[in-house]
Amino acid sequence: MRVTIIGTGYVGLVSGACIADFGHQVTCVDKDSTKIATLNAGEIPIFEPGLGDIVRSNLEEGRLGFTTALGESVRGADAVFIAVGTPSRRGDGHADLSHVYEVAREIATALEGFTIVVTKSTVPVGTGDEVERIIRELRHDADFAVVSNPEFLREGAAIHDFKHPDRIVIGTEDEHAKKVAAEIYRPLYLNQAPILYTSRRTAELIKYAANAFLATKITFINEIADLCERVGADVQEVARGIGLDNRIGSKFLHAGPGFGGSCFPKDVRALIKTGQDHAAPMRILEAVETVNDTRKRAMARKVSSVFGGVLRGKTIAMLGLTFKPNTDDMREAPSIALITALQDMGARVRAYDPVGMEQAKQVLADVTYCRDPYDCVEGADAVVIVTEWEQFRALDLEHLRDLMACPVMVDLRNVYRPEDMKKYGFAYTSVGRPPTKQPVNLVGAPVPIGERMTV
Ligand SMILES: NC(=O)c1ccc[n+]([C@@H]2O[C@H](COP(=O)([O-])OP(=O)(O)OC[C@H]3O[C@@H](n4cnc5c(N)ncnc54)[C@H](O)[C@@H]3O)[C@@H](O)[C@H]2O)c1
Repeated sequence: MRVTIIGTGYVGLVSGACIADFGHQVTCVDKDSTKIATLNAGEIPIFEPGLGDIVRSNLEEGRLGFTTALGESVRGADAVFIAVGTPSRRGDGHADLSHVYEVAREIATALEGFTIVVTKSTVPVGTGDEVERIIRELRHDADFAVVSNPEFLREGAAIHDFKHPDRIVIGTEDEHAKKVAAEIYRPLYLNQAPILYTSRRTAELIKYAANAFLATKITFINEIADLCERVGADVQEVARGIGLDNRIGSKFLHAGPGFGGSCFPKDVRALIKTGQDHAAPMRILEAVETVNDTRKRAMARKVSSVFGGVLRGKTIAMLGLTFKPNTDDMREAPSIALITALQDMGARVRAYDPVGMEQAKQVLADVTYCRDPYDCVEGADAVVIVTEWEQFRALDLEHLRDLMACPVMVDLRNVYRPEDMKKYGFAYTSVGRPPTKQPVNLVGAPVPIGERMTV
C-alpha cells in the first residue's frame, strides 16, 4: 500500500514510522520545513522512546520518506491520513479545525485514482462530513472515501500502543474503503487486535468519549484524595480497593496534581462544546473541567501551607515539568499553572526535567533550570515532585536532604512512602495520604537542618 501521512507530530510520525515498519510505502508530510530537514537527516524532533530506531531503519530501507510537498505525495496514494493538530480554538474551547480543513483542500487538488482520506486527528462529530464536502466541492470527479480512524496511542509508550492497540476503530460505511483500511492494519489483525467497524460519526465520538471517560476517572480519584486528606484515609489503598473490582479497573486511578497534556484538557473542552451545540449538555464533564482547572493552583496552596501560607522569598525546587514521564511534551502540563501560582505567591522557582526543559523554556519565565535533581534542590526550602520520572523514584534522600535549606518534600505523585520520608527527617506531604508528624518550629514553618525539634 502507498500511504501518505499529513502532519508529522507525535501522532503522524509514530503512525508513519510504524505503518512503514509493517512493510507499506509511507511518505510523511509536514509544512514545517525545519522538522522535515531534521527527519531526513535521521534526527527525531520529539522525545519518544524507541521512535528513532524505527524511523532510521525504515528510512534506510527506503520504505519511509519525509517531504513538504503535499500534492506530490498525495497523487497515487492508496490512503492519505490527516494527523495535524486540533488544539482548542481561542476564545470558545471548540476544536480548532482550521489545519484539518486546510489540508482537506490541498488533498482535493491532488487526488488521483481511488484514495481513502483518513482522519486520524481527534475531530468532533461531523468533521468527516465537512472534509468530504470540501473535497467534493473542489473535485467533482474525484474517487475517494473519507474514513475516521481515531488514534489512541499514549505519548511515552506510543510505539507499543500503535503496534499493540486494544482496538482499531474504522469509521466508514464504504466497503472499498474498509478493505483498504483493513489491508493497512492487517499485520495488527494477525496479532489479534480487534478491528471495530462503525459509522464515521460513531468513530469520531468514540475517541472523545474514551478520553473524556479517562479524564473523569482521574478527576474522580483526585476528589476522593481530597476527602482522604480530610478524614485520615489513604487514597492509594482506596484506589487499590476499588481498582481490583474488574468493573472499575485499576488504571487511571492515581491521585495527583490534575490531568494535563496535549489531549485530555482540549478534548474534554471540545466534547462539552459539542454537547452544548446539540442540546445534550455534558454536565459531568463540565464538573471535571472545573475541578481539574482549580486543582492545579490548589497544589501551590498545598506547598504554601507547609510554610503557614507564606511563600514570599522561599526557593522551591520542582522535579519534573512535562505532563507525564517519557515525553518532552509541555502542552497544558500541570507544572505550568503550579509554577505560575508559586511565583504569584512570591516564591523563586528552580526546576529540573530529564527531557522537557527546552520546551519548558518556551512557556515558563523566571525559572532557574538545573543540571540534575541534586543541583535543583541545592539551597531550596522545599522540593516538589511534579512528574514521576523513573529517575526520581530512587533519589539519594540523605544527600538530597543535606543539600536543602529546609527538608521539605511535597510529593504530588505519591512516589515515596510517608514512613520512609519521616525516617530521613523530611517534612513530607503527598496527595490523599495522612501527613506524617514532622519537625516544626513555633510558627509552623519547617526548621533548617541542625535546629530541629520534633513535636
Ligand atoms: N499527542 C497524542 O498523544 C495524541 C494521541 C491521540 C490523538 N492525538 C490527536 O492527533 C492529532 C495530532 O496530534 P499531535 O500531538 O501529533 O500534534 P502535533 O502538534 O505534535 O503535530 C501536528 C503536526 O501537523 C503539522 N501541520 C499543521 N498543519 C499542517 C498542514 N497544513 N500541512 C502539513 N502539516 C501540517 C504541524 O507542523 C505539526 O508538525 C490531534 O488531533 C490530537 O488530538 C494526539
